[in-house]
Amino acid sequence: MRTFQQIAELRAHLRAARDDGQTIGFVPTMGALHEGHLSLIRRSCNDCDRTVVSIFVNPTQFGPNEDLDRYPRDLARDSRLCQEEGVDALFVPTVADMYPADADTWVEVPELSKPYEGAHRPGHFRGVATVCAKLFQIVQPHRAYFGQKDYQQLLVIQRMVADLCMPITIVACPTVREPDGLAMSSRNAYLDREEREAAAVLSRALFEAQRLFEAGERSADELRSAMVRVIESEPRARLDYVAIAHPQTLAALETVHDGCVALGAIRIGGTRLIDNVLLGVTLNHQARRPA
Ligand code: PAJ
Repeated sequence: MRTFQQIAELRAHLRAARDDGQTIGFVPTMGALHEGHLSLIRRSCNDCDRTVVSIFVNPTQFGPNEDLDRYPRDLARDSRLCQEEGVDALFVPTVADMYPADADTWVEVPELSKPYEGAHRPGHFRGVATVCAKLFQIVQPHRAYFGQKDYQQLLVIQRMVADLCMPITIVACPTVREPDGLAMSSRNAYLDREEREAAAVLSRALFEAQRLFEAGERSADELRSAMVRVIESEPRARLDYVAIAHPQTLAALETVHDGCVALGAIRIGGTRLIDNVLLGVTLNHQARRPA
């Protein structure tokens, strides 16, 4: 595996592979890699001749009072994990190279960015869309791998790629969970032991909606109330939102149908956690709740 900091050097390395007819898979990350990231990397290594992983803690997607400064960073460990998975190139650009002082171009996907995460984190998806557009331009992958864990982000990226005619296939990968259901996340490292235990309440709430849906409940209000009740049963958790939404538009629904998404965000101590599950769908081979 080779590690690149310079955009031009990574481009030269990949040009040779592309000219050779090789397929390039790309997994953008912010590092502090866990099994969720590794599942994307494995999928890419399996599908593509070359896999590029980027590690870049993207400042433009963090709000002024968010965790940019304390976001976990461990390049030596991440690099070893990528090497072990068979990654071809690790791209670790600097902030100055990704955002030169005179940069003045932004990518926005305003409608999909409005609700849920976008409402709680103004400017977040503009930062995500912009950095992904730039990374896609640099790597020019055939395929890029994203986790369903960040469901709204996945939709924003799919919309951007379609709207800007980018010749990239976005591959959605199922959410990898801890044994108690908690979705893996680099931010779980912020949780102390008691908070970590409490954090599983979010996935429990989403699985409860899934269970009720499977038992025949079709009222979004009922499913929402049931999720709120589960979350309120955990005194350490503060609810940001739970919702049942259309899987493509994220529009709020009254009546729930197969394939709708249940989304939620909570805060535990100073840590914000998000998660989601699809209702009644096995076709996305999403990770099911633990037995
Ligand atoms: P990061 O949070 O590091 O996540 C990188 C990728 O890993 C995303 O596609 C995310 O959805 C996926 N992922 C995270 N946890 C997962 C889990 N438990 N199971 C499956 N996939 C999981 O998301 C970002 O970084 C950034 O916003 C980025 C896209 C890199 C742009 O800066």
